[in-house]
Amino acid sequence: MPRRNISEENVSGTVAACYIVRTHDHPLVAMQRKLNRPHVSINMAMSADGKVSTYKRETFSLGSAKDRYLMDVLRAKSDAVVIGARTLQLDGWAIRIRYAEIQKKRIEKGLTPHPLNVVLSTDLDLPAKREFFTHRETGKLIITTRSASATRVRRFEKLAEVAVLPRKRIRPQDALDVLSKRGAKRVLVEGGGPLNYAFFKANLVDEIYITVTPRILGGTDAPTVADGKGFLLDTHPRLELVSSRRSGDEVFLRYRVAKR
Ligand SMILES: NC(=O)c1ccc[n+]([C@@H]2O[C@H](COP(=O)([O-])OP(=O)(O)OC[C@H]3O[C@@H](n4cnc5c(N)ncnc54)[C@H](OP(=O)(O)O)[C@@H]3O)[C@@H](O)[C@H]2O)c1
Repeated sequence: MPRRNISEENVSGTVAACYIVRTHDHPLVAMQRKLNRPHVSINMAMSADGKVSTYKRETFSLGSAKDRYLMDVLRAKSDAVVIGARTLQLDGWAIRIRYAEIQKKRIEKGLTPHPLNVVLSTDLDLPAKREFFTHRETGKLIITTRSASATRVRRFEKLAEVAVLPRKRIRPQDALDVLSKRGAKRVLVEGGGPLNYAFFKANLVDEIYITVTPRILGGTDAPTVADGKGFLLDTHPRLELVSSRRSGDEVFLRYRVAKR
């Protein structure tokens, strides 16, 4: 398939779909399928200085309509999309496929209209009235731990499927095991920074998609693509650039995570 610049296409153009299909057809991705876990991608939009929100963690869309289109393409290729508890607490959105033509193709393949919406929450301190829970078309799964009270588990079982791990913290591998048992082959992680960091630290990320948006957000306390304690020189994940495409003032980057 010839390489094309994404900026040549309009938002509903087919290049986005081709771009993603190539990702999944790559031989290294095929190799990942032999692993005893789902393929894991991360997708994040960030400012040019690497922040994924403001220091007040305001709710807004960093990316353009084209970024949202690519986000939907990635979601459509995924069996499950995972977010951290704080992204749900702050933003609260259902993880949907918003573009009708992308959703149509997914349904034609016999899939649900939207990927399974998954949140990782240690103690189920979650806002039950947010769209994540009230949206009627999405399947919902909460992965939690024995730190969650029985009362909260019963409450959220009315809104979502709840998987309670016999631990005090959620290890990314345990979350993937839960998803694997449900048949998930492709998992998309959509942040925030602490959750992404946990997946990187556990060496469970195969690819990362980053949209660089034309903003400077600054702020020592503003969240980034990977937060947590951070990595050191010898142990940080290395990336191999698979593609970079410009559209207007945004750049769409796709990296493969190098083997450690
Ligand atoms: N620009 C983007 O693409 C993008 C995408 C997503 C989010 N965001 C932004 O990121 C901010 C929210 O994210 P955040 O950085 O505060 O946190 P987050 O990663 O969404 O959530 C972190 C929380 O998830 C729970 N968790 C469960 N298991 C975990 C594990 N193994 N590792 C890490 N966390 C685990 C913990 O909460 P409990 O202890 O309560 O379980 C933890 O405090 C918002 O401002 C949002 O807008 C931006």
